Amino acid sequence: MNKQTILITGGAGFIGSHLADRLIQEGYKVVVVDNLSSGKRKNLNPQAKFYKADIRNKKALTNVFEKEKPRDVFHLAAQINLRKSVDDPVEDAKINILGGLNLIQCFIQSNPLPNWKGAKFIFSSTGGAIYGDTKTIPTSEKFPARPMSPYGIAKLSFEHYLDYYQKVFGLDFVSLRYANVYGPRQNSKGEAGVVAIFCDQILSKNKPVIYGNGQQTRDYVFVDDVVEANILSLQKNVKGVFNIGTGKETSVNQLFQKINKTFDGKIRKKYGPAKKGEQKRSCLDCQKAKKVLGWKNKVELDEGLERTAKWFKNV
Ligand SMILES: NC(=O)c1ccc[n+]([C@@H]2O[C@H](COP(=O)([O-])OP(=O)(O)OC[C@H]3O[C@@H](n4cnc5c(N)ncnc54)[C@H](O)[C@@H]3O)[C@@H](O)[C@H]2O)c1
Repeated sequence: MNKQTILITGGAGFIGSHLADRLIQEGYKVVVVDNLSSGKRKNLNPQAKFYKADIRNKKALTNVFEKEKPRDVFHLAAQINLRKSVDDPVEDAKINILGGLNLIQCFIQSNPLPNWKGAKFIFSSTGGAIYGDTKTIPTSEKFPARPMSPYGIAKLSFEHYLDYYQKVFGLDFVSLRYANVYGPRQNSKGEAGVVAIFCDQILSKNKPVIYGNGQQTRDYVFVDDVVEANILSLQKNVKGVFNIGTGKETSVNQLFQKINKTFDGKIRKKYGPAKKGEQKRSCLDCQKAKKVLGWKNKVELDEGLERTAKWFKNV
């Protein structure tokens, strides 16, 4: 039984809570830091040790590191709402850049060289919001990142910090650039998860709204596949940046049709005005993850949507 201690920030959230479940299943000791701003207590695995703390609070983080001495860190805590980042880029940067820097600082201070050899910092970045609008679809990691939102800029900036800490302090990191993640436990009340929002609206018999003409495309990856990419990043001798998606584009119109079908297909959609600055296409080339990480998505969209809809029907 592996008893290595792992810290997950954002472990009460959608992806972080699935990751915590899987790590616990694999025998790791899991410590979660989350301020519950969008995460929920009910998502927390009872075997995880929970600290309700904000990553902007260095003192609180230092306390966690001193007490728990985690060997590795998965950093998922974030302000995830792209539109909010447009309205308040300062607040976004405080959480997504400064909060992350607090975490790196604590990590380095609690693991002085050479003890931290092999320890890893695994960051949840974005592939959907880091490349900007591009005609090169699917988009690989080699494509220059030109984010079109403060959220994407903050994620990219944090990757630069990680690169700096790797070069100067020897901190090993993996940054996983996720496509659009969906699955059970995704918050349907925020702006982030269109699958969750559609499921929720269909169940409450409200007409889902499609903004613009619905032809904008995204790459939808199921949460279990994302968790698997995190596990491989921890267990394999790898570092660097990896796109995590499916390489398949789906339009919002197609997505609505598929989700509607998993219920009884009777709800009609309506259209609203296009959102200003919204990316038209997004789809990730994940060949690097396949070759280096040994990762490929296993759950296809139809199956993932079935599993997600089933969960929403039962909550
Ligand atoms: N869901 C996606 O499609 C997607 C795509 C790309 C990247 N990501 C990234 O994956 C990570 C997890 O996203 P998610 O979809 O699970 O979102 P989520 O909102 O469910 O999870 C984020 C968690 O972080 C916590 N948190 C927020 N601010 C905090 C703070 N200041 N201090 C402590 N905790 C804080 C929240 O309470 C929440 O539990 C994020 O970093 C996000 O940017 C998600």
